[in-house]
Amino acid sequence: MERYHNILQDEDYQGLLAKLEEYEADRIYCCHDLTHALDVARMMYIFSLEEASGLEQDVIYATALLHDIGRVAQYETQEPHHQASVRIAEGILQKYGYTQGEMSEILDAIAMHRGENQDQLLGEYLYRADKLSRNCFCCKASDTCKWPESKKNKSVVI
Ligand SMILES: [Fe+2]
Repeated sequence: MERYHNILQDEDYQGLLAKLEEYEADRIYCCHDLTHALDVARMMYIFSLEEASGLEQDVIYATALLHDIGRVAQYETQEPHHQASVRIAEGILQKYGYTQGEMSEILDAIAMHRGENQDQLLGEYLYRADKLSRNCFCCKASDTCKWPESKKNKSVVI
């Protein structure tokens, strides 16, 4: 079985996703649920296939599944979610046989995922997919969204 299936079935991961769903039940802006994580995973994998990057699917999916999991901590303690995601992701990845090298690549990508300047391919794919997975072009909350226009996704193709 691919290692990312273990992440999906992890009790801590599932608990955090359930809490996130509660916190975002009335949110009018983009949510950070499993649908978003999987949209990001699939887009990242498409980028990787297009560019024959050689990145492992298992590493790509782990990155996408875990990149926003720190949102719960942000709602509860105002800890920036990229930092919280790194902390939580590390604990989860250690359980499922990701190597030190893979973990360091995944955690770096998550730590940097809010900025445009990426120093590695996995991080670049995460940043691009995170933005392109949002349907800003037809969003009813677009007028009051705090994302700058330059970051909003206006395209249906990737
Ligand atoms: Fe995201």
